[in-house]
Amino acid sequence: MNVLVTGASSGFGKSICQILVEKGHKVVGFARRRDKLDALKAQLGDNFMPVVCDVCDFASIDTAFSALKLDKIDVLVNNAGLALGLEPMQSLAVQDWTTMINTNINGLVYFTQKVLPQMVTQQSGLVINMGSIAGSYPYPGGNIYGATKAFVKQFSLNLRADLIGTGVRVTNIEPGLCSDTEFSNIRFKGDDEKAAKVYDNVEAIKPDDIANTVAWLVEQPAHVNFNRIEMMPVAQASGPLAVHRGE
Ligand SMILES: NC(=O)c1ccc[n+]([C@@H]2O[C@H](COP(=O)([O-])OP(=O)(O)OC[C@H]3O[C@@H](n4cnc5c(N)ncnc54)[C@H](OP(=O)(O)O)[C@@H]3O)[C@@H](O)[C@H]2O)c1
Repeated sequence: MNVLVTGASSGFGKSICQILVEKGHKVVGFARRRDKLDALKAQLGDNFMPVVCDVCDFASIDTAFSALKLDKIDVLVNNAGLALGLEPMQSLAVQDWTTMINTNINGLVYFTQKVLPQMVTQQSGLVINMGSIAGSYPYPGGNIYGATKAFVKQFSLNLRADLIGTGVRVTNIEPGLCSDTEFSNIRFKGDDEKAAKVYDNVEAIKPDDIANTVAWLVEQPAHVNFNRIEMMPVAQASGPLAVHRGE
């Protein structure tokens, strides 16, 4: 199959590219960091095509697509995304929330709109969006990040409503705590110590767990749609609602 993966330079996206190429698929991986994509290309060979692209920049997505020469797009994995900071909304930097919205929402929507005409013409295709449990369960400081992932969840369901009768499938994967990615280093802006604490003494899920789920989805029969897949490490569960008591 021909598979497009955004956010291919690190974490989930990198692992998804590795496992899908190992399984014999042709994968196009998009990200901003050319050196990381080139290193992946050196590892994966002919069935991996790296494309430098900033999903926050629609012109960059247009340029990336015009370089693609695929007569069929079987799967799009909209994985590029990030969280920035854990401040309460009243003190979150404007630059941080605009970047989260531009990446997690606008980039994902634009990328999706780029592939849908071809998938609808083919009468087949699978769009896999990378949501998060943060889109369902609030936590302090999750304000904009969680809201972007709630958007991704509802956008995925609404896409299904638009695409009924076209053969195009849509799945939202909603992971919980996952280690061995750059996610927390990005969230805490390079503070490695703070990032490491998130995974301290916890057996989190790993990028390969997400990639294996993607590989499994890709192999499901064309008449089956998984709307949402929520996955957590066994060590994680939802907690009680917060109650603030007076003095
Ligand atoms: N790790 C978790 O615990 C967790 C849990 C639930 C959901 N998620 C979601 O899973 C997805 C992947 O996260 P991860 O943990 O694998 O994080 P990661 O290691 O930081 O990977 C993020 C990827 O997104 C790319 N990216 C970021 N901004 C981009 C932009 N403007 N244009 C193009 N690519 C961009 C990065 O590449 P470049 O920097 O090279 O562009 C990188 O390849 C995200 O959507 C995240 O919200 C993560």
